[in-house]
Amino acid sequence: MNLHVAAARTDTDRLWRSLTEMAAIGATAGGGVGRLALSDEDRLARDLFRSWCRDAGLTVRVDRMGNVFARRAGSEPGAAPVITGSHLDSQPLGGRFDGAYGVLAGLEVMRTLNDAGIATRAPLDVVVWTDEEGSRFTPGMAASGVFAGVYALDEGLAVRDTQGITIGEALAAIGYAGDEPVGGYPVDAYFEAHIEQGPLLEMERKLIGVVTGAQGQRCFQVRVTGEEGHAGTLPMTQRRDALLGAARMVDVLNDIAFGYQPHPVITVGRLLVRPNSPNTIPGECQFTIDSRHPDDDILDRVEREMRAECSRMAAGLDLQIEFSGSSRRRSIEFDRDCVALVRDAARELNYPARDIASAAAHDACHLARIVPTAMIFVPCRDGISHNERESAEPEHLAAGADVLLHAMLQRAR
Ligand code: HGY
Ligand code: MN
Ligand code: MN
Repeated sequence: MNLHVAAARTDTDRLWRSLTEMAAIGATAGGGVGRLALSDEDRLARDLFRSWCRDAGLTVRVDRMGNVFARRAGSEPGAAPVITGSHLDSQPLGGRFDGAYGVLAGLEVMRTLNDAGIATRAPLDVVVWTDEEGSRFTPGMAASGVFAGVYALDEGLAVRDTQGITIGEALAAIGYAGDEPVGGYPVDAYFEAHIEQGPLLEMERKLIGVVTGAQGQRCFQVRVTGEEGHAGTLPMTQRRDALLGAARMVDVLNDIAFGYQPHPVITVGRLLVRPNSPNTIPGECQFTIDSRHPDDDILDRVEREMRAECSRMAAGLDLQIEFSGSSRRRSIEFDRDCVALVRDAARELNYPARDIASAAAHDACHLARIVPTAMIFVPCRDGISHNERESAEPEHLAAGADVLLHAMLQRAR
């Protein structure tokens, strides 16, 4: 790589300013962001991103799952693009860096190449994936899943939120129901920059996480059915209390996690009670289970145990239970060559780095099924994420963007 290219570095202040401006959209009182997928806040964030892409001379296209691709042309227009990106949707009380960092680091790469007048052979795309978080539309990563062939397009468009609105309807409502096909064309490589969402890099004072892969994940919906009753007149011995059943199931699911080494992580993040009235015995509860582990065999055993224990709890209280799977994703190893490009770029840039496996899920986990993929992690304070207190340092974020720049250049030149 010639000296001029080797010396290219992203602009720390410009990246930080973009992150700060983006974080103003959906800003929450606690200093985080709330930008649920395909909400008005998500629309405003997408609009802002598109205006910045236009300013950077990128051509923008939107596919039928609402994924937004911004392209920097290469000297060989027909060459398979090198893609980077992440997501702009967030958790309801999320952080300002989860997702937005990967999108804006990708944009910063384009801006840096423009400033340095560096041409690439292959085109470069920065992408905003629709609905990575899955907080509103479950399962998450629906749109990158369609791109990677995990879901059919009509399946992806039909995913509903708790109000019964589909992704397809929500895309149309915010003007992001694109007409481009979703994937189905060759992609040279995919790189995603993301905060670690864990404590290791900060603890070990490393700047860069060379992400080698990600643990497997299985998500379930559980419906527990009993019978509504009067809180004052129905004796305790005659109740079929769905919330009591759900509460015991949540407790036993937590115990199951401690029965394995290393522990799987099992989370019940959502619980809906019907009719949800203080003086009516709950007749129905629905809750979600998110279970994850690096070893798929353990995920199998955990699933069997969860189903058995929840059924046992239901039987003990004369309740019905329906246990349905909403998504399954095996643990995945990223592409060795792309991982090596990330590792080499960090070394050449003199950024202290370590290999790391991702405990969180990312769109890269789906892309890795069809495209050589790697990720770049940077530290976040105390490893906190999916929390308004999520925080990162400008210099660390720029270092990750530098590694992204040079890894992409290796593939695209
Ligand atoms: O759940 C996840 O791992 C991702 O942050 N959506
Ligand atoms: Mn994320
Ligand atoms: Mn997230």
